[in-house]
Amino acid sequence: MGTLDAYRALFDLSGRSALVIGAGSGIGKAGAEALAAFGADVVCADLDVDAAERTAAGIAADGGRATSAPVDIGDPDTIRAVVAEPDVVVCTPAINVRKPMLSITPDEFRRVVDLNLAGTFNVMTIVAAGMADRGRGSIIVISSIRSQVVEPGQGVYAATKAGVVQMVKTLAAELGPRGVRVNALAPGVVETPLTEQIKADPDWYEAYASKSALGRWARPEEMAGAIVYLASDAASFVTGSLLVVDGGWLAVDGRFTPPLPE
Ligand SMILES: NC(=O)c1ccc[n+]([C@@H]2O[C@H](COP(=O)([O-])OP(=O)(O)OC[C@H]3O[C@@H](n4cnc5c(N)ncnc54)[C@H](O)[C@@H]3O)[C@@H](O)[C@H]2O)c1
Repeated sequence: MGTLDAYRALFDLSGRSALVIGAGSGIGKAGAEALAAFGADVVCADLDVDAAERTAAGIAADGGRATSAPVDIGDPDTIRAVVAEPDVVVCTPAINVRKPMLSITPDEFRRVVDLNLAGTFNVMTIVAAGMADRGRGSIIVISSIRSQVVEPGQGVYAATKAGVVQMVKTLAAELGPRGVRVNALAPGVVETPLTEQIKADPDWYEAYASKSALGRWARPEEMAGAIVYLASDAASFVTGSLLVVDGGWLAVDGRFTPPLPE
């Protein structure tokens, strides 16, 4: 293979298998479609198996390779049942309960932590064991800008998103010598069912749009490039990292634009 061909092959996922959990909606759906577009054989998994099936059918109808499977990341047996030696695993499911810390009930705390942190832990550890045995693999979990900055109402969600980053770093440290890469993605605000509550409130929606340097929300497909990158050989030296895809949200303070000369 010539030098340029070798570079062109960096993003080629032909012959790779990918498991995308959360593929029924939002960022997971876009990630599954994009991985298939670059040649991966994708298992679209979700608690909502009908939604996963719709994603897989859409990929297949478009000439890609995809199947679907039911997975509940809170139930390790359902993860074990679907793991068929994937080269790439993407784990997206999470929920947010937007309430002041003093109003969050123990049950709400547990629901958020159980899904976002314990569920992600289940996926990471179950799939990583096989990857380490095979000596290769890329695990991609979805954190958030909320792992870095918060606002009122984000307490438990933000804690889980920061926790996920530390688990990513630790697993990357433990399995780097065995050929497994582990990374996290930190999206900014993305229009998906998860953020419908915000979209329904024009002031809230607009405030978020204008916070980022790009002055708008992201579409789920705008997370796909980062997922393909982390999955592929283009990221062969990338592990333990938090890849921020936030339209400049974290870069800009945003509280005030000073009066400046033209
Ligand atoms: N949307 C945003 O603005 C945004 C911003 C930052 C981070 N994120 C993160 O991105 C990730 C994906 O978010 P999204 O907006 O695509 O969400 P989404 O709600 O659109 O999709 C989540 C998917 O996960 C599935 N799911 C829920 N519980 C599950 C379980 N127990 N087992 C398996 N599947 C389950 C749902 O059925 C759904 O298909 C989340 O981790 C979220 O925290 C989202």
